[in-house]
Amino acid sequence: MEQYAIKGGNPLVGEVEIGGAKNAALPILAASVMTDETVYIENVPDVRDTNVLLSAMQSIGVMVKRNERHKIALNASNISNLIVDDDNIKKIRASYYLIGALLGKYKHAEVALPGGCDIGCRAIDQHIKGFKALGAEVRIEHGLIKTKAERLVGSHIYMDVVSVGATINIMMAATMAEGTTIIENSAKEPHVVDLANFLNSMGANIKGAGTDIIRVKGVSKLHSTDYAIIPDQIEAGTFMFAAAITKGDVTVKNVIPKHLESITAKLLEIGCEVEEADDCIRVVASKPLQHTHVKTLPYPGFPTDMQPQIAVALALSKGTSIVTESIFENRFKYVDELIRMGANIKVEGNTAIIDGVDKYTGASISAPDLRAGAALVMAALAAEGYTMVDDIKYIERGYEDFHLKLHSLGAQIELVESERDFQRFKLKTG
Ligand code: EPZ
Repeated sequence: MEQYAIKGGNPLVGEVEIGGAKNAALPILAASVMTDETVYIENVPDVRDTNVLLSAMQSIGVMVKRNERHKIALNASNISNLIVDDDNIKKIRASYYLIGALLGKYKHAEVALPGGCDIGCRAIDQHIKGFKALGAEVRIEHGLIKTKAERLVGSHIYMDVVSVGATINIMMAATMAEGTTIIENSAKEPHVVDLANFLNSMGANIKGAGTDIIRVKGVSKLHSTDYAIIPDQIEAGTFMFAAAITKGDVTVKNVIPKHLESITAKLLEIGCEVEEADDCIRVVASKPLQHTHVKTLPYPGFPTDMQPQIAVALALSKGTSIVTESIFENRFKYVDELIRMGANIKVEGNTAIIDGVDKYTGASISAPDLRAGAALVMAALAAEGYTMVDDIKYIERGYEDFHLKLHSLGAQIELVESERDFQRFKLKTG
């Protein structure tokens, strides 16, 4: 099993190219089944979650051609099956995007109930509420969500919680419903907007994405498109915080600075310098980091997907910080690992109280989920001595070439497969 071997202590310095957004790519790939014509998608990140989704799509007859590493052509004119139940699909949350897409086009879909990172109870009641409001029958049986409709008819849907997944799923199904659907209290994340732009480029009629009311006028047919996915807000934010945590100087390239405003604001608050240009941001951490408070919120608030990364920075900052997680109830699982590296953190309910320490020390740790895994790697890069990170499969779900990008910024990090490899790494870097 692969692990990361890390020797901490090098400030990260240099430029890093940010890839396409995983959480935009997943619904966009799924939505490409909604036309019989070939769809061309660029800037698709080559990460485990997108690859698992693509292989599940192939298993129901979608032709997938990877023209280049990040350029994919998809053709769904020969779909043979509306039941998606391969073993891998249960491992990713985004499997459920195939429900909205297939239901919209074929008025029928059966998809294995989603898994994904274990960051708390991940209800799907709002998705079901939306599908039912459009006229679909929804049942959960034998581990599958089964949806079927004679016809889908536009409706007025009020979301009880702001949900990225439910907003996306309802938007997809409503795209090919009869009449107009209004989704109120919708999620405003950049990837919701990106999916709406993608569907519109295929002939859909969606207005208001990025606000809390989305209006979808149903169309009967969608057509081919050639579309490039937006840059990954969270990958960019992770490298920006890597600069802060390692006292480095990192420029993230190919980003949309507007999507990073809440992250930039927190970096400034804790004492980093941040320089913005059109499509890149430079973060310099030349002074000691200062404490602050942060609460995760739906976009444009501070993202829950950046909560572990900011906590790792705050645990090295002067003074006491409070981090409140308001989206998922189980997103502090990394704290025990960080404490083993010397952090001083107490978790009470959905709040972490962090007393800054001067340094981390390397230890043997495990990645509990995708973002927490990336954050622990950053702690290891700042730590004194060596760290071995286990369960990096979680990190590979959403970060392409993570260790290579970090290495190009001067990190001492290597993929190893055994204790012997780790000892070799130690000799090499000692
Ligand atoms: C998406 O998950 C992302 N995943 C997550 O990214 C991200 O953390 C999350 O949005 C919040 O931004 C993908 O895009 C594939 P939600 P999703 O529905 O759609 C509750 C990452 O690291 N809820 O917005 O599952 C839910 O329990 C990850 O890349 C209901 O109550 O999140 C949660 O408390 C992990 N009923 C809140 O809403 C529902 O029907 C937000 O969840 C749906 C959600």
